[in-house]
Amino acid sequence: MTDMSIAWSEDYAWGLNPGARGLAGLLRPVKTKALAAPAVEPAWTASGDKPLIELRKVSKSFGPVMALENLEATILPGELVTVVGPSGCGKSTLFNILAGLEEPDPGNILRFRGKSSTASELLGRISFMPQRDLLLPWRNVIDNAILALEIEGMPRAQARAEALKMLPEFGLAGFEKQYPNQLSGGMRQRVALMRTFLFKRDLMLLDEPFGALDALTRTMMQRWLLDVWQKHRRTVLFITHDVDEAIFLGDRVLVMTARPGKVKLEQKIDLPRPRKADIVTSPEFIGLKKTLLDAIEEESMKSFMTSGH
Ligand SMILES: Nc1ncnc2c1ncn2[C@@H]1O[C@H](COP(=O)(O)OP(=O)(O)OP(=O)(O)O)[C@@H](O)[C@H]1O
Ligand SMILES: [Mg+2]
Repeated sequence: MTDMSIAWSEDYAWGLNPGARGLAGLLRPVKTKALAAPAVEPAWTASGDKPLIELRKVSKSFGPVMALENLEATILPGELVTVVGPSGCGKSTLFNILAGLEEPDPGNILRFRGKSSTASELLGRISFMPQRDLLLPWRNVIDNAILALEIEGMPRAQARAEALKMLPEFGLAGFEKQYPNQLSGGMRQRVALMRTFLFKRDLMLLDEPFGALDALTRTMMQRWLLDVWQKHRRTVLFITHDVDEAIFLGDRVLVMTARPGKVKLEQKIDLPRPRKADIVTSPEFIGLKKTLLDAIEEESMKSFMTSGH
């Protein structure tokens, strides 16, 4: 792979809307034994790899509400897998299980690096950027970014030094002393993503990280994320409602059914990497989009009908 520079540049930054206040997030910091950062190859060079995560018969009910039912999925090390599905189909619930915050119903099989595991055993092994904006307003950029490292026990000075080194790559150089309310939506997203990247874990869960951004900022963030991901080689699961985003980013797209959610379609995305912005106009991209939109529309209709509209 070429050693490309991925510092945030005007290339990425044009179109940033300083007025936008987007989602930002917080990974779940927990005290845990330090785990070595995995040296993984991306999936397109690593066929035949042992799965990082295997989910079999994963169901989750909340009282009478069945959020997930017999969900099956396999994630390989280094893959970037995107997840789409109707609102309320259980995507965030799936992430909460993988982050160890919810235990699925009995009968499920979870395997992490081939070893049988409960959800709670995954707590702290996975970095998580949840759907809601959870940047702490009283902490500046650098102190928001190091939150998880600090809770993990790293001395503050050391954590700050690590985060400072990463600032340029995340387009935040010179902004370390700013508070969240002084940042644009795109910048807040990058602080939240930086926090997730700094917490070096086997799997990164990103729940609609760009959901609240305007279209141009979002496109820039997607291109930037791909560059950062290719440099850091993390395994990523990424929830989105945007089919273009799901295809542009993903090695595979998982389409979920209406609630109770399970994987309806697993679409491999064989588009070459690195992906340029104009790939969205290629016949291959448009063909994939049609397949995915058909699958999603069917499920969205079901979800719409059952929600009493
Ligand atoms: N802690 C909880 N207690 C009770 N019900 C819950 C809880 N968490 C989720 N649910 C229910 O489970 C279902 C799935 O919710 P979830 O948040 O996982 O959906 P989602 O696919 O992430 O939706 P969206 O795309 O709108 O974010 C919903 O019906 C929701 O009301
Ligand atoms: Mg959700």
